[in-house]
Amino acid sequence: MEERQFTLRQSDLPRQWYNIAADLKEPLPPPLHPGTKQPVGPEDLKPIFPMRLIEQEVSTERWIDIPDEILDILSLWRPTPLYRARRWEKAIGTPAKIYYKYEGTSPVGSHKPNTAVAQAYYNKLEGVKKITTETGAGQWGCALSMACNFFGIECKVYMVRVSFQQKPYRKSLMQAFGATIFPSPSDQTAFGRKMLEQNPDHPGSLGIAISEALEDAVSADDTKYSLGSVLNHVLMHQTVIGLEAKKQMEMAGDYPDVIIGCVGGGSNFAGLAFPFIADKMAGKNLRFVAVEPSACPTITQGKYDYDFGDSAGMTPLLKMHTLGHDFVPPGIHAGGLRYHGMAPLVSHLVESGYIEAATCGQLDVFESAINFTRAEGIIPAPESAHAIRVAHEEALNAKLEGKERVILFNLSGNGYLDLGAYDSYFAGQLQKT
Ligand SMILES: Cc1ncc(COP(=O)(O)O)c(C=O)c1O
Repeated sequence: MEERQFTLRQSDLPRQWYNIAADLKEPLPPPLHPGTKQPVGPEDLKPIFPMRLIEQEVSTERWIDIPDEILDILSLWRPTPLYRARRWEKAIGTPAKIYYKYEGTSPVGSHKPNTAVAQAYYNKLEGVKKITTETGAGQWGCALSMACNFFGIECKVYMVRVSFQQKPYRKSLMQAFGATIFPSPSDQTAFGRKMLEQNPDHPGSLGIAISEALEDAVSADDTKYSLGSVLNHVLMHQTVIGLEAKKQMEMAGDYPDVIIGCVGGGSNFAGLAFPFIADKMAGKNLRFVAVEPSACPTITQGKYDYDFGDSAGMTPLLKMHTLGHDFVPPGIHAGGLRYHGMAPLVSHLVESGYIEAATCGQLDVFESAINFTRAEGIIPAPESAHAIRVAHEEALNAKLEGKERVILFNLSGNGYLDLGAYDSYFAGQLQKT
């Protein structure tokens, strides 16, 4: 039998997160206070996040220990499997070797719990009673609802309205964990009411949902806010993905020539890529491709500039690729990729030449997703299918050139609660972009 699975033992779970800030040649431009335009200090962030997360956000320590209480929960599904997609390679007829790290094996179906568990834990340590958040397709909302449930914290989720309608079962899953969910824009906040006045059928966006969750969090003392992507500490929590994948690629006896991940705010891509970017910084030759939807082309079409992380302009200003904080992307099915900005760390590494970006149209993405499903059996989340599309293109290029290459991509989530999107695709009702 050909080797397809590279499986680690529970004891191989990484004990430390990798913090790429320690290895940057140029430090990351700091977040700025919108009023003073001065770098924000820990005190400015204290009403929003627990101190331990603020410390991680600004840390330049290379390795940060993962507390046992977090490891204990991660070990419910980690280490996650790494697969060689041999059947897909044959179906494509490519000389390339294709590997994928599968984060869809977590209880809620994506990589998002890797940081949700850590964030809920540090909030619990500080006695926080309630956490508010936004969610696009619902993967992040489900992850945080599960994590809050494990630590006995109340969870309130603002779910982008178009996704709320497209993905009703993610709402059910969040409810199963005891969370409360509102379609955003909602009537719960002043900003939501303002958006609804302008357009009662507003589709919502991640930027608007973040504003609502923030407004809600700062209005109560026992409540804090949690973000599922973009920030340094979130990306760092996701590095367990790449640290495991490094060991698994070693087991497979290969090393990637190209690493691919989809990018919404940048966290699953960074989680897989950053531990390997450390190798590139040390002289290894490999490429990194961040894939975004052509409907929301943040890196390829956006400006690299200071902008707000949310639509209402409540967050500090972040130096990042941005389409403008009032940009409302079309209602594509990859709801988790409908974000106007990008993680400052990913943007910085694009600017310094470590990461390339690519865009894909919605129909091409679903075509490659189905091509993958028919060979490997897994239905990918529409977000993750963007990485599949570029892996597919890389494999076809290898075929054209008649050259072997090793491709590694992140299958960040499964699409079993996104089957409505697949229905629309089969019915020919999806927009091209
Ligand atoms: C399965 C999946 N992949 C990727 C993303 C994009 O987010 P990020 O870029 O932070 O990984 C999401 C966001 O909701 C998601 O649910």
